[in-house]
Amino acid sequence: MEHLLAPSILAADFANLERDIRLINSSQADWFHLDVMDGVFVPNISFGMPVIKSIAAHATKPLDVHLMIVDPDRYLATFAELGADVLTVHAEACTHLHRTLGQIRSLGMKAGVALNPHTPVAVLEDVIDELDLVCLMSVNPGFGGQKFIQRTFDKTRQMRKMLNDAGSKAHIEIDGGVGAGNWKALVDAGADVLVAGSSTFNASDPLAAIVEMKGV
Ligand code: DX5
Ligand code: ZN
Repeated sequence: MEHLLAPSILAADFANLERDIRLINSSQADWFHLDVMDGVFVPNISFGMPVIKSIAAHATKPLDVHLMIVDPDRYLATFAELGADVLTVHAEACTHLHRTLGQIRSLGMKAGVALNPHTPVAVLEDVIDELDLVCLMSVNPGFGGQKFIQRTFDKTRQMRKMLNDAGSKAHIEIDGGVGAGNWKALVDAGADVLVAGSSTFNASDPLAAIVEMKGV
């Protein structure tokens, strides 16, 4: 299966954001992964609407917005207006996940659900028809540059089987600690979207790192 690569802007240089966006525009990467953190759902605050608006003005590839915020229902329409193509909420942050996913789709975006490392894939069984993307967190969300949790391989295989059994074409995205040493094994396990923050922007040659992780 051909996989997509989504560099995470969290690892970009925020004082040179336009330069880093142009770098991704000109690369073989597929999506921009944008991590929105509220300091409540996760112990960190990243960036919000004004920064996404500026990114959207320059980005020529789809915006994959990962909301690490409590009660994301409050802002679904705002992120649609900002130009999000994929909008991912955390299962742990949604009381009415089925309704939330329906609202994301009705706003014209792809609906994603992220699962923390401790959340079993089984929580998605009854919303499988509402999903366009499952984001399996392979680190505890909140920070870039963390160590990949190996258990994610089993989870990826379980999730791919669940989607196949349901006839779902939803993407499986892996987020956290993805790089040269594990991207291929993740694709073999059933992942088809790889988020890569540090392994893209901290590389001495980010374009070459992207080519490497695209396997081209
Ligand atoms: C973590 C974020 C990730 C992060 C990944 O909470 O969801 O998207 O930017 O960073 P790396 O690729 O450095 O682990
Ligand atoms: Zn993320």
